[in-house]
Amino acid sequence: MLTAEQNDELTQVDAGTPMGEVLRRYWYPVAFTRELAEFPVKRVELLGEFFALWRSPSGRYGIVPEACPHRKASLAYGVVESDGLRCPYHGWVFDEAGACVEQPAERDDTRFGARVSAQAGVAEEMGGLVWAYVGPGPAPRLPRFDTYVMEGFRDIGWADLPCNYVQIMENAVDPHHVEWLHGRYFQFIGRHEGFTSPASFAKKHQKVGFTPFEWGIIKRRVLEGASEDNDDWKVGHPLVFPYNMRVGGGGVHQMQIRVPINRTTTRFMLYTVHRPDEGYEHVEQPVVPDYNIPVVDEKGRHVVNYVEGQDIMAWVTQGAITDRTTEHLGRSDIGVAMLRKMFREQMDRVARGEDPLGTIREEHERIDLPCEKDKFHAGAQFALDFCDMGSTRFSPMLDAIKKIHVSAAERVASGSASGSGS
Ligand code: FES
Ligand SMILES: [Fe+2]
Repeated sequence: MLTAEQNDELTQVDAGTPMGEVLRRYWYPVAFTRELAEFPVKRVELLGEFFALWRSPSGRYGIVPEACPHRKASLAYGVVESDGLRCPYHGWVFDEAGACVEQPAERDDTRFGARVSAQAGVAEEMGGLVWAYVGPGPAPRLPRFDTYVMEGFRDIGWADLPCNYVQIMENAVDPHHVEWLHGRYFQFIGRHEGFTSPASFAKKHQKVGFTPFEWGIIKRRVLEGASEDNDDWKVGHPLVFPYNMRVGGGGVHQMQIRVPINRTTTRFMLYTVHRPDEGYEHVEQPVVPDYNIPVVDEKGRHVVNYVEGQDIMAWVTQGAITDRTTEHLGRSDIGVAMLRKMFREQMDRVARGEDPLGTIREEHERIDLPCEKDKFHAGAQFALDFCDMGSTRFSPMLDAIKKIHVSAAERVASGSASGSGS
């Protein structure tokens, strides 16, 4: 249980608040690469602020606050030019560093432009997404987590959810919910709708564990019929502080991304790479597909017949900002308590002028995160359950994705598998 003040502090995202200042030390995905290839400027909301994001003709990215410093017209309607973004109203131009490099209606000798700048962030592309950092400089490096840079077939489902991101992150350190929400509840829905939910999701938790590490918290579990020798315990998978969770197994690699758009809206993205450990054959993918996943039906009821729809139902029904003053945490909520403490510690670090957890300033190729290969002790079946019972079922690429896993398994069975895992 938290006090009203603690809950308020924990869930803030705005500039000038302790948590808002922590969140401004990280990079966030703010657009699909595809979008800016189709039209080179986009309005973006992040951490309760609006920005104009653009792609220059040479392929570089820039991000500035949406309101033009002149008289506040929207730069998201700007003209993209080779040396920057030109305001549609009176034609001022801002470069990628935010400098005002042209004021066509001002006399050249006033040097007015030198005194005006937009508070620019930085933006770059990785893995089919455009990422932005809008915090204080110098910007840390964009962390090149394995999922975003590995070889494989990419697929991104997403939805904007009407709730604060912290309750979604608390779910990432809540292993017990799986056997109930994706186990018992899924079975109940399946009985009524005439399908069978995956048996592995209903396995009882014998033991759970949490290990803080350099990127967040590793979550571990021992399910009935398994032991501490299984990947679910030995390897586990991490909450990646402050807004991701790395999951996967059976040749599926996924980052679950929860971008705080504003205090009560979270962009939930399922960034998935399909890459069987053995038997994978490269599939060309000129554009990474992105698609909306359903949240509610036409009657306004949550869509709960797929895994992430069940999670979404739980997160959203907790309330826009869940009331932690009247909750009752038990021993099984130890991961939730650990995460709140971690948030609190990062507020202190940032207040002291230090970098918070997971800030990387060194150049690097790739950051490998721990993640079980044999998820739920389910072997190769995990990938097919993942496709049929999770948000991937809404992918326009569903058939191609299943074929990747089935063909790889066939190649392994026939002994013609080439290459092994990345
Ligand atoms: S409002 Fe942007 S140039 Fe005038
Ligand atoms: Fe879940």
